[in-house]
Parts: sequence; C-alpha cells; structure tokens
Amino acid sequence: MGHLVIAVDGPAGAGKSTVAKRLAKRLGLGFMDTGAMYRALTLKALRRGTKLEDAEALVALAHETAIDLVDEAGRPLKVLLDGEDVSDAIRTPEVTNNTFYIARTPGVRAVMVEWQRRMGEKQSLVGDGRDLGTVVFPNAAFKFYLDADFDVRCQRRIDELRAKGVAVDEAALKRDLAERDHADFTRKVGPLKKAEDAIIIDSTNMTIDDVVEALVQHIHKQK
Ligand code: DC
Repeated sequence: MGHLVIAVDGPAGAGKSTVAKRLAKRLGLGFMDTGAMYRALTLKALRRGTKLEDAEALVALAHETAIDLVDEAGRPLKVLLDGEDVSDAIRTPEVTNNTFYIARTPGVRAVMVEWQRRMGEKQSLVGDGRDLGTVVFPNAAFKFYLDADFDVRCQRRIDELRAKGVAVDEAALKRDLAERDHADFTRKVGPLKKAEDAIIIDSTNMTIDDVVEALVQHIHKQK
C-alpha cells in the first residue's frame, strides 16, 4: 500500500487504543498510542515534583525526555520513559487525572507533535489520540473519529476495571470522565475535534471487532 498513516481520534473511553492496535496488526502497520506519550511525561513531572502549573518547566522537561513506544507482536504496547518500562505506571488514576496539565501546554504539544510526525515519517502506522487528524497528520490517508455515548464509555471503563479486579467508585469515575471530556474539548491548542474529512464511527452499539471490521471496510473501499 506504500507509506501510510491512519489517524484514529476520539474521546476517552471510546475504544481507540484497542481498535487502533488491532487495526495496525490486521494491516501489518506500526501502532502509536499518543495518549501514552502524554501520560509518560505526566508521570515524569509527578515523580520530579515539577510544578504542573509551570508551563516553562513542563516544556523544559519535555526537551530533556526520551519516550519510546515498543510495539512487539502479540504483546501490549511497551512504553519506555528515558529507557524505563512505565507501561503500567502510566495507567494509574493519579497520572490519568493530571495529564491535562501536560496536554494543555502548547510548548509541550509542539514537542509531542514533532516526535509523532517523526515516527510517522519513519514507518507506516495507525495512531490514536485527540489531534492526529487535525494537527499531527493533516494529510493522513485515512482519518477516523471514534465516538460513543458518554454512559457507554463509562460502562466500558467500569467493566474493564472490574475485570482486572479493581474496586470501582462509579460516581467518581463518571465525574472524572466528564472532566476529561471537558478538558479535551475546550483546550486552546490541539483540542479534540472532528477533522472535516474524518469518517465518524459511533461505536455505542458496536463491539470492538465490529469497529475494526468497519474501519477495514472503509480502507479497502478507498484503495
Ligand atoms: O488516550 P489517553 O486517555 O491515554 O490520553 C491521555 C491524555 O492525553 C488525555 O487526557 C488527553 C491527552 N492526549 C492529548 O491531549 N492528545 C493526544 N493526541 C492524545 C492524548
């Protein structure tokens, strides 16, 4: 198919990462979870005690950080922060709830976008995030916007956590997701927005397999 970039954007809990990873595997492409990159820098800032309100300090931190994504067949994506495997450490509620400081800082986004573009130049890939179709890869061959009703996104998160044996405070989870949506939709730089040429998939009543199949159909139709 030649060099190919496929962008999958959408709100938290819509299933983007799982879908993007499976799609990448189906098509034999790389997979880039951009949320993992924002999370990794958040983890570093929290560990260092960097003031999260201090934009300049966050940008300086981004410049002295190496984040690598290692995508090995049949394994979950490995996230390396300055060489350390932080794949699990970036999924804690503390990191999740503090990522918006990193995500709202324009200078940090500029660094992230550059890293992501470089990855997309090196290899064909499926990337998932918020601003891939609008900012990072405006010329992506395919842009998908994966949506789902708020309640369904909450329920999926609850089921996911329960399956892992984690006790869930449903009201707190709903509040956190609503706050993340608000932060994603309203930040000044790189907000979550449907690209004009994005294909919108509403996964409210679809399984992950259905969604992957729908994306594959769209891609084959246009090839
Ligand atoms: O996809 P995720 O939930 O792992 O993303 C973590 C956070 O990073 C989320 O709060 C929004 C932010 N993010 C972003 O601002 N831009 C991206 N391209 C990806 C994620």
